[in-house]
Amino acid sequence: MEIQNNFSLKNYNTFGIEAKAKQFVGVHNLTELKTILEENKPQKKFVLGGGSNMLLTKDIDALVIHIDLKGKTILKEDDDFVWVESQAGENWHEFVLWTIDQNFGGLENMSLIPGNVGTTPVQNIGAYGTEMKDCFISCDAITISNLEMKTFSKSDCNFGYRESIFKNKSKDLYIISSVVFKLSKRNHKINISYGDIKAELAKNNITTPSLKEVSNAVIAIRQSKLPDPKELGNSGSFFKNPILLKKDFEKIHIQFPEMKYFDISETEVKVPAGWLIEQAGFKGKRYGDAGIHKNQALVLVNYGNATGQEILEVSKNIQKTIFDTYGIQIEAEVNVI
Ligand code: EPU
Repeated sequence: MEIQNNFSLKNYNTFGIEAKAKQFVGVHNLTELKTILEENKPQKKFVLGGGSNMLLTKDIDALVIHIDLKGKTILKEDDDFVWVESQAGENWHEFVLWTIDQNFGGLENMSLIPGNVGTTPVQNIGAYGTEMKDCFISCDAITISNLEMKTFSKSDCNFGYRESIFKNKSKDLYIISSVVFKLSKRNHKINISYGDIKAELAKNNITTPSLKEVSNAVIAIRQSKLPDPKELGNSGSFFKNPILLKKDFEKIHIQFPEMKYFDISETEVKVPAGWLIEQAGFKGKRYGDAGIHKNQALVLVNYGNATGQEILEVSKNIQKTIFDTYGIQIEAEVNVI
């Protein structure tokens, strides 16, 4: 465990932004993590997982701790379900593929989401009709201030749409070290309600898909719309889809009857930010090395040497234009550092 100074984070964030950490260390087990926290009490800390949901707009004046804890364990099982624990540093997609290989169901719709297992509870990742919280049982975390271990149940986490306590009242207080999921062993609840999945399966004449077939369909859809961070720097959806009160939305809808929306409750609708951004003319636009992806307007991309500030400027320009045009405020989904 060696602390390195003035360390480049370019390969540690999927946007591929060049920014430096004042200090950097990778930890591979809980003991190492505790030692680092204990020995560096006064330093400011910054916890880094897969680096897939952040935009670095400046150097990080702190000790960056890269969580590289590995391992998967079956904690218990009955005839129908299995409780699987994954350490925080496992790559999410590899973990999902492993569960599918074991014929464990629940995570297949979230195939190919970048990032590590330990950061999935922070923003309650989701895709194609499922959210991580649907299979989440608990997570263990270390309290940064006093090194106490704490277990968070699902209700403790207060999950919402791309939200949890780890982004809000408990921000920067804990480091998640492992997560427990409850997955099905049989009678899997296959969820192909999302239009894109249905269409992808129909293309291959699949009517009753297996877990693997659902996963493959999701992978095909994602590959067709979302850029691979290894080829083009990005952080997935840059913005959240705005949620509006129905009564407010109705006024906007009269003015823009073609606006897409999805009912999410009796009183609220979700408007696809990708649609708003595309209509506003930003899809595929490029400003220097910063741009908006050509197949999915919700994704901002780094063509090579964009700085975090440049990408942030583009995002602000989009937010302002959407607000001026539609009166709708769209919020960043990624953490702007
Ligand atoms: N749309 C457009 N233009 C675009 C993009 C989308 O008009 O450029 C429209 C589509 O036609 C569709 C609607 O917006 O009617 C929704 O599009 P899509 O199914 O692609 O999903 P999304 O709302 O753009 C969300 C998640 C994605 C997730 C997909 C699938 C958020 C912020 N994003 O995107 O998550 O993969 O649904 O479930 O909720 C991520 O969080 O990083 C991410 C990629």
